[in-house]
Amino acid sequence: MKQEQLKQWAHFFLTYKFALDEVETKLNILNEEFQFIHDYNPIEHVKTRIKTPESVMEKLRRKNLDISIEHAKTHIRDIAGVRVICSFSTDIYQILNMISEQSDVKVIEVKDYVKDPKPNGYKSVHLIAEIPVFLTNRIENVLVEIQIRTSAMDFWASLEHKIFYKFNEGIPAEIQQQLKESADMIDLLDQRMLSINDKVLHHLQLTAAK
Ligand code: GTP
Ligand code: MG
Repeated sequence: MKQEQLKQWAHFFLTYKFALDEVETKLNILNEEFQFIHDYNPIEHVKTRIKTPESVMEKLRRKNLDISIEHAKTHIRDIAGVRVICSFSTDIYQILNMISEQSDVKVIEVKDYVKDPKPNGYKSVHLIAEIPVFLTNRIENVLVEIQIRTSAMDFWASLEHKIFYKFNEGIPAEIQQQLKESADMIDLLDQRMLSINDKVLHHLQLTAAK
């Protein structure tokens, strides 16, 4: 690749870093203000990552597209990824709403795998958001994939992801079955944690009213 081209690609990836910086700041503000008003933080933690150039090119090849910045920009919507981990399943929608209501964030797509889990048991809410990045001479609208899930869902997804890459021929049926059963247990755990939290809040309200 020529020097000039390399520089263009580096610039392209840099805009995704800026978009991630913006989203992280937005999430921090939401979390801090929420904490201030409600004495509770809906976000446990946030992880960000940028796809490597190799992996972007590999994905373009898989999609039978020529390697170009234009193709990467329009056809690969997870170059910049943000994972937002929260405690309770109700927090997921709280966070989704707070992001969607920001006037400079354009939500392009929402996939709700919490309402409709994948057959393997995967749960998360995914959104593709378009974030304006203010560069020196123009505004660049950059796509970011945001995944929102509880700590328990994240525990399951991280393990399943690792297992998935260990088997080239697909995960053996027995392990698939056990993963699905674990996903159901994760579901029960999330429900139980939510109900414990509701009881705690109720208890605190009663003692405050005394
Ligand atoms: P790509 O897989 O990125 O081509 O996009 P897609 O259109 O299939 O999008 P989808 O929203 O279904 O998944 C995007 C991302 O969600 C993946 O890159 C993973 O990070 C995560 N994900 C989706 N499905 C699973 C799953 O079954 N297990 C795990 N562990 N992660 C998943
Ligand atoms: Mg996929």
